Amino acid sequence: MSNSIAQSNNQIHVGWESPSNIALVKYWGKYGRQLPRNASVSFTLNTAASRTFVGLDGNNVSSQIEIDFTFEGKQNDTFTTRIEKFLSSIADEYFPFLREYKLKIDSSNSFPHSSGIASSASGMSALALCLCDIEYQLGSIQERDDAFFQKASLIARLGSGSASRSVYGTMAVWGQHPNVLASSDEYAVDIAANVHPVFRTFRNDILIISAKEKSVSSTAGHHLMEGNPFASARYTQANDRLSSLLVALANGDLATFGKITEDEALTLHALMMCSDPSYILMEEGSLSVINKIKAFRKQTNIPVYFTLDAGPNVHVLYPSEFEAQVSPFIHSELKPYCHEGKIIKDSVGPGPKKIL
Ligand code: DP6
Repeated sequence: MSNSIAQSNNQIHVGWESPSNIALVKYWGKYGRQLPRNASVSFTLNTAASRTFVGLDGNNVSSQIEIDFTFEGKQNDTFTTRIEKFLSSIADEYFPFLREYKLKIDSSNSFPHSSGIASSASGMSALALCLCDIEYQLGSIQERDDAFFQKASLIARLGSGSASRSVYGTMAVWGQHPNVLASSDEYAVDIAANVHPVFRTFRNDILIISAKEKSVSSTAGHHLMEGNPFASARYTQANDRLSSLLVALANGDLATFGKITEDEALTLHALMMCSDPSYILMEEGSLSVINKIKAFRKQTNIPVYFTLDAGPNVHVLYPSEFEAQVSPFIHSELKPYCHEGKIIKDSVGPGPKKIL
């Protein structure tokens, strides 16, 4: 490469904002190189997001990946090591430029670090989009088209499975499933066009029951599924539930949506409780809030439901048209169970945005 081209490439600097997502049918169990044991589907969120900037920062003369990584403007050794390892694992196959240039990366989250919200889905999808964008700017690919997002989803998946779904707005399915056209274990697909309008503006208020770091990571949880005696029944169940949920999503069938979503959240936590060693990530507050949501629904007939990710925090899901009734309920009945009264009001969103 001539020096002048190398120098102009060093001006390349890109930025993407990418949201978190909340799974309705959960990915829980993986094998091989980040491949899911069952297909999963999620709502893409709007407010909870990561903003990542990546710039080429001079030529890399060593054969090792070299990055200067900052999180919210500050050096962070744990993240640096994790990202260097990740980039080394994908460089030769997917992004040869990573061995030619040093990289400057800065990332930040819209949600507070101590909120207990996992940032791997938003962070890894934002990073994957930046890497694909650099490849585009370097001229190796021609357009930011479907293939661009498909590659971003695949790269995000290699970083963290659930991140594959954050590349698309509204809703995405990751994992091969007979009822989802073009679905794949390698990357997620956009299913927004097959979703009834009621779900496109769904509310998702995140009740922060605890801001503590989880005692068992999701990655360790996935591995524990390998010895779980219910594993194979679980994978069949997840794929069956996804079939039924897809019909409910298309028809705007809130009751079926709610039943499957809640059953999935409880199954996820039940699987943790019957792993060996067993563990519990729900807290007393999580259970109290779940019972209050069920009682409120029974009393008012308002379609408000819950889900949980692999932690104690509870996501409250309801159609936007019921916000005026649900908000006061959350405020008076559920907020007292939240750590420092913390609630992140979020909703289904349009997906990642290019910010530089
Ligand atoms: C419970 O995607 O965080 O949120 O692939 O090991 O990074 P790794 O795991 P991760 O697992 C997410 C698990 C979940 C369910 C889901 O998002 O589908």
